[in-house]
Amino acid sequence: MRLDIISIFPEYFAPLDVSLIGKARERGTLDVRVHQLRDWTHDVHKTVDDTPYGGGPGMVMKPEVWGEAIDEVIGDGTPRMIVPTPSGRPFTQELAQELAGEPWLLFACGRYEGIDSRVMAEYSTRLRVDEVSIGDYVLAGGEVAVLVMVEAIGRLLPGVLGNAQSAVDDSFAPGSMRNLVEGPVYTKPPVWRGHEVPAVLLSGHHGKVARWRRDEALRRTLRNRPELVAAIDPETLDKHDKKLLEELSFRIAPEDMAN
Ligand code: ADE
Repeated sequence: MRLDIISIFPEYFAPLDVSLIGKARERGTLDVRVHQLRDWTHDVHKTVDDTPYGGGPGMVMKPEVWGEAIDEVIGDGTPRMIVPTPSGRPFTQELAQELAGEPWLLFACGRYEGIDSRVMAEYSTRLRVDEVSIGDYVLAGGEVAVLVMVEAIGRLLPGVLGNAQSAVDDSFAPGSMRNLVEGPVYTKPPVWRGHEVPAVLLSGHHGKVARWRRDEALRRTLRNRPELVAAIDPETLDKHDKKLLEELSFRIAPEDMAN
């Protein structure tokens, strides 16, 4: 997969040399090219922003410099373009999976109040353009959001994770315990500072381990992400799940309790 990233802070992307993503780049699974937006300015100050039409605080990134940069980076190619912004569609595991199937992604990192909207309008005539938010909080720019997305997408590429099952088991992964976050995990030693590993995990009984993991996933999801439990299709809950949720005082619609 080829990834182009345009930013006024290319230094932000140093972490992409490290760990799984760094190894994927060394192997050639990922071809990451980071570009300095200011290289496409023409004035001595290398200006990339200006005041917003209509007034208001902050600055807006100028369309001309973005146009020149994107034209040169993509040539005649048609990457899928991602613009990180808090006003974009949510970045989810599902979107990460979808983007992991693309051969070429172009990330355009805005700073300040964002990029002049005509840039997105212009490239939408030629490319698939998505404005994407990584969460309901405001960062100082799109760079960190791109790091998050590249890591989430990169680990899904074939051969990037050591253990292919790891990505399948992820919280939110399609086909996993859908809509549940994962429960707690343990390794050796069996007792640490008086804290014992739950006995069932040492039992070697796969059925009981699977049941325990599902119970813990339900408990943790209810505690940390109650809205996910509320969204579960009752059809996907077995009797044991329903009993556990009742014990945890989670109300399932009475008509769904009968099943
Ligand atoms: N830029 C600033 N905040 C952002 C967010 N939450 N997601 C994506 N890009 C951003």
